[in-house]
Amino acid sequence: MKTYRIGVIGLGQRIAHVLAAMQEMDWKLELAGYVDPAPVGAPILERAGIALGQAFATPADLIAAGPYDLLMIGTPNHLHFEHINLALDAGWPIFAEKPIVRTAGETLALAGRLAKGDAPPLFIGLVMRSMPIVREVIARVARGDLGEVVSIDATEHLAPEHGGYLARNWRRRAEWGGSYFLDKVVHDFDILGCVAGARVARVASFGGRRVFTADRAERAPRTWSDGEAAYGEMDGGWMGANDAFQSDMDVTDHQTAILEYENQVRLTFHANSHTSLPERRWYVAGTEGTMIADLARNKLMLRPALSRKKPERIDYGGVTDDAHNGADQAMAIDLLAAMEGRAAFPVTAFDSMEAGLTVMAIDEALETGEVLDCRPMWARYDEARKAPASRS
Ligand SMILES: NC(=O)c1ccc[n+]([C@@H]2O[C@H](COP(=O)([O-])OP(=O)(O)OC[C@H]3O[C@@H](n4cnc5c(N)ncnc54)[C@H](O)[C@@H]3O)[C@@H](O)[C@H]2O)c1
Repeated sequence: MKTYRIGVIGLGQRIAHVLAAMQEMDWKLELAGYVDPAPVGAPILERAGIALGQAFATPADLIAAGPYDLLMIGTPNHLHFEHINLALDAGWPIFAEKPIVRTAGETLALAGRLAKGDAPPLFIGLVMRSMPIVREVIARVARGDLGEVVSIDATEHLAPEHGGYLARNWRRRAEWGGSYFLDKVVHDFDILGCVAGARVARVASFGGRRVFTADRAERAPRTWSDGEAAYGEMDGGWMGANDAFQSDMDVTDHQTAILEYENQVRLTFHANSHTSLPERRWYVAGTEGTMIADLARNKLMLRPALSRKKPERIDYGGVTDDAHNGADQAMAIDLLAAMEGRAAFPVTAFDSMEAGLTVMAIDEALETGEVLDCRPMWARYDEARKAPASRS
């Protein structure tokens, strides 16, 4: 098997975990070089026994030292557009983390560029697509096990340390992360779009910050029941703030959304970044059956609407502390298969842009307090895909 020569822009926790999973899944790889002023992922790579390779000051320097078999992009979200464009110019296969880009304007510009059809492969780390439970959810819906999908209720509830990390890390600022939903639940809206089987037509959203606020800094409990200090478990990383309550956070810490898809599927979503009963769950009700996908416990439950038998239950096991439940390893296998031309990667760059736009529409509705008609947004996107824009 060949050894893949890899270059990385943004060697944070995420790319380090993906590289470690690739190695675990029998990739032969050499991290030839990276660009990162302070690589947060270095200790993760050290534990995985992967040498850091050469440090370069700029992406241009890294690219000049090519060729690479794969360029990997794991910078904070506001830099994805710039780094993806540089990597596209270089012309080697690219793996970029989600969300593919941070704004609607960047999405249209990238859609125009990719529509030209001459781009190298661009794989996006919407890692849940590779999970066996998620593949089964999509397959069962596609094969009609639920009849027609009618309505969906979905959640993502994070544990307090995770929320505290989001409130200290770069994700706390819209200028870097985009939004709570864009960084955290774009995965869910990608897959829920597949389950609904249409684009979102109308959306409303309510949310705000009521947990990680300065006025709670003094009165919020700061100690776990066993006496350990709370909210500092994970390092704040790049542009990190010291305190979860007194940072300059401007994104939500809880948010709800209600969506109607073009085919009249209706969906509610509830996210909260500070809960003691963490959950990531999709409840899908169809004309002929119901399904609950419990992503936190990696369990699926289904029953035909008129069945009096026990529900069918599938336990995928492999629940891990990082809550990824083997997804990174599954994606590493998919990525190798795609690189070797044996199978298509489970998600395309266009799927990733559509999931991103769906979440951006939710955030726009949150901002305006109105029900947002998404048709003009899709019209602009389809236009961008039809008439490739030249990069400015
Ligand atoms: N697919 C998933 O499940 C998943 C999970 C976590 C993160 N992510 C995504 O991965 C990306 C990185 O997140 P993370 O958790 O690793 O964050 P992180 O803070 O651990 O890593 C970001 C890295 O980028 C570096 N960096 C900042 N500015 C840079 C620049 N100009 N040039 C080069 N490097 C620069 C930082 O020093 C840091 O090492 C984000 O887009 C995030 O949304 C995806």
